[in-house]
Amino acid sequence: MTATDPKKLFVKSYGCQMNVYDAQRMADVLAPEGFVETQAMEDADIVILNTCHIREKAVEKVYSELGRVRELKKERNAAGHDTKIVVAGCVAQAEGVEITRRAPAVDLVVGPQNYHRLPDLLKQAEARRGIVDTEFPVDDKFSALPMPSAKKTLARGVSAFLTVQEGCDKFCTFCVVPYTRGAELSRDMDAILREARHLAEAGIREVTLIGQNVNAWHGKGHDGAASTLGELLYAVADIPGIERLRYTTSHPRDMDESLIAAHRDLPQLMPYLHLPVQSGSDKILDAMNRKHTRDDYLRLIDRIRAARPDIALSSDFIVGFPGETDRDFEDTMDLVRRVGFGSAFSFKYSERPGTPAAELTEQLPESVKNERIYALQALIMEQQTAFNAATIGKVVDVLIEKRGRHPGQWTGKSPYLQPVVVEHEVHTGDIVPVEITSIVANSLNGRVAGPARSAHIS
Ligand code: SAH
Ligand code: SF4
Ligand code: F3S
Repeated sequence: MTATDPKKLFVKSYGCQMNVYDAQRMADVLAPEGFVETQAMEDADIVILNTCHIREKAVEKVYSELGRVRELKKERNAAGHDTKIVVAGCVAQAEGVEITRRAPAVDLVVGPQNYHRLPDLLKQAEARRGIVDTEFPVDDKFSALPMPSAKKTLARGVSAFLTVQEGCDKFCTFCVVPYTRGAELSRDMDAILREARHLAEAGIREVTLIGQNVNAWHGKGHDGAASTLGELLYAVADIPGIERLRYTTSHPRDMDESLIAAHRDLPQLMPYLHLPVQSGSDKILDAMNRKHTRDDYLRLIDRIRAARPDIALSSDFIVGFPGETDRDFEDTMDLVRRVGFGSAFSFKYSERPGTPAAELTEQLPESVKNERIYALQALIMEQQTAFNAATIGKVVDVLIEKRGRHPGQWTGKSPYLQPVVVEHEVHTGDIVPVEITSIVANSLNGRVAGPARSAHIS
């Protein structure tokens, strides 16, 4: 390597959108230190594994990947290229020094609240391997992180995530997030609007506001008083250039009037809502400490649909929670049938050490969990297929994101977050009306049915 060669950084993210956003911000904070991102782990001077702790399998994946990275580090070091291994994200926060014990090749363990300290921590790791920083600092990391360059922002795509809220105070009994991400923290409205304007000026057309509990956002508004996510969405929608808005992930208890009104009033707010319910049984919802009933959820869905009749709904489900009977599971299936989802995620309950549900005695055998997840996923797939089929013959606006797999193809997303493929001369960032003609797997094919609203990007 010559003095002018840039150093290379490889980040691999697991888990939720928060980690995707954090990965970008880690790259941004290391850019002034001379690091450029690479897609090839074997070329990297720093390998960051940005980890997820949500289910046992997610954690196992990290340790097996660390085995692979250790071999790579050995080979690179033998060839004279110093290589640092960093473990970031929620496993870093939860396991801390345990990681350096189980995987001594790791140079640095850094929790999600401390990414702004990466340059400093890496300097410390030059002198000593096994640095661990999982403190929850007083100042939020966001104010210390730099804005990325316009070019870099756009290179990541025309749709961007923007973290507005982090952490969770809900303490669902199965979940590690309140422990790994800490207490709820809402960024101020002004800081969020500054970042959103920066994204719009760079050419971003769609912004997804993200947070573990995004609709619990209560950051300071312009007047210094606590505001709501609904109000924030109205303010972001006013920014010229931002054509589409989304937000995720929400909790049913925090869907307030202003947020439902935003779905009615804002054309920029896309008609898609991910609203996890987890279970359709009141007994299980109570044991999960969700603090809402199945009826609360169903009535909420009615109110949301009254405000925005075409909204596509999505959810998360856990099957096989301790004590879940056939009857409880049937209540979940019934709730799914009543709502009719456009898509949904479902997971087998995974026992997480340190969470209250792990202490419950009625843990279910794997075979029961398997049966139930199979039935639930079949029902969800049926609904998703029906939802997609219902768009055939309709014209939907598609935000073009990138070239498709085959020559002449472009892909983008419908307002309902469905992937759509067209064969037409379009550009990244265009919003084009597309008539849907067929479905292949989960993707829609269509033909362009009118002129694009052009973004003049590429
Ligand atoms: N904040 C969001 C999402 C949290 S994690 C919410 O409140 O819904 C994403 C999903 O992972 C959860 O919605 C839940 O369905 C699932 N999940 C969390 N902990 C789990 C566990 N211990 N076992 C199985 N699935 C889990
Ligand atoms: Fe986890 Fe519940 Fe918080 Fe969601 S609301 S992050 S499931 S504790
Ligand atoms: Fe996983 Fe942490 Fe997100 S545990 S789901 S990466 S908040």
